[in-house]
Amino acid sequence: MHSIKEYTQEFLGYLDKKTVNREPANLYEPIKYILGLGGKRLRPVLTLMSAEIFGESHTKALDAALAVEVFHNFSLVHDDIMDDAPLRRGKETVHVKWDINTGILSGDAMLITAYQLFENYDPAIFRELAQLFSKTALEVCEGQQYDMDFESREDVTLPEYLKMINYKTAVLVGASLKMGAVVARASSACKENIYEFGRNLGIAFQLQDDYLDAFGDPEKFGKQVGGDIIENKKTFLYLVAHERLPQSESLQLEHLFTISPSDPTQKVETVKQHYEISGATQAIKDEIKKYTEKAFAVLNELDVEEEKKALLRDFGESLMKRKV
Ligand code: IPE
Ligand code: IPE
Ligand code: MG
Ligand code: MG
Ligand code: MG
Repeated sequence: MHSIKEYTQEFLGYLDKKTVNREPANLYEPIKYILGLGGKRLRPVLTLMSAEIFGESHTKALDAALAVEVFHNFSLVHDDIMDDAPLRRGKETVHVKWDINTGILSGDAMLITAYQLFENYDPAIFRELAQLFSKTALEVCEGQQYDMDFESREDVTLPEYLKMINYKTAVLVGASLKMGAVVARASSACKENIYEFGRNLGIAFQLQDDYLDAFGDPEKFGKQVGGDIIENKKTFLYLVAHERLPQSESLQLEHLFTISPSDPTQKVETVKQHYEISGATQAIKDEIKKYTEKAFAVLNELDVEEEKKALLRDFGESLMKRKV
């Protein structure tokens, strides 16, 4: 096994090797731009780690890892259009730097590129990777549609929110790990276990993303802090605050999530106060811990050496502490 840092370096080297200048520039430049902007590279690192956990060299999983990262970046380009987001990884989003049509088409090309990478595997592995990928990608679309629908709905429930983040985010984290296991020809039980570990970790990950979106440090976070509040996203923070606040404050919060003021500064501040006072901020921290521990409980059942599980546990712990 290697360290997280080593897997990241290896992945970055591979990404660099596979990045070529192609024409038309307006299709391929935005792809190079978004993939070169950095990011944590969590998902590809998980794919590489997983392959080694199940006894295969991580180098065999590089194409699957790249596919996962290219797909993730495709989803971000389209997500930033849908969320009207100005910033990504501290830089202008693709549709701001170019335009919306460019973001749509470059995103489409990335989705296709991701699929193409599976062609480098033998037929049986190819088939299994493609099947998992198609299922996951469709679920991500479902999650993204629920996310959009919730912006204008006032009766979103916590179970609905959890279902939404499971699809838009968690299934891809699960699939990233499972792909490594598929490449390593792991047993069905192992593949299912590692997927469930990733899925629970992915739920914690999206909850943390929602927390940082409101309370992150603008210098570090790399995205517009308060973006979810501006876009009226019914996150865990909103749903808990709405449930717990006294009626008059709860109604005020509800009202704030129906308006889109041209200067959102005051709205963002008031909403954040509601999140703090209601205890929603503490509740989301508890929930992040709960899902991380759920992931660890799943991991305990996995039939591999303890030191390999420890690496995954460290990874999960570090996600809980992240600021980006
Ligand atoms: C952002 O993912 C989208 C979510 C699912 C929350 P990451 O936080 O992994 O983004 P990067 O790739 O590190 O920038
Ligand atoms: C991300 O949800 C889900 C996908 C990109 C599929 P968010 O909209 O919360 O992600 P960020 O915060 O923009 O990275
Ligand atoms: Mg977004
Ligand atoms: Mg979004
Ligand atoms: Mg977010």
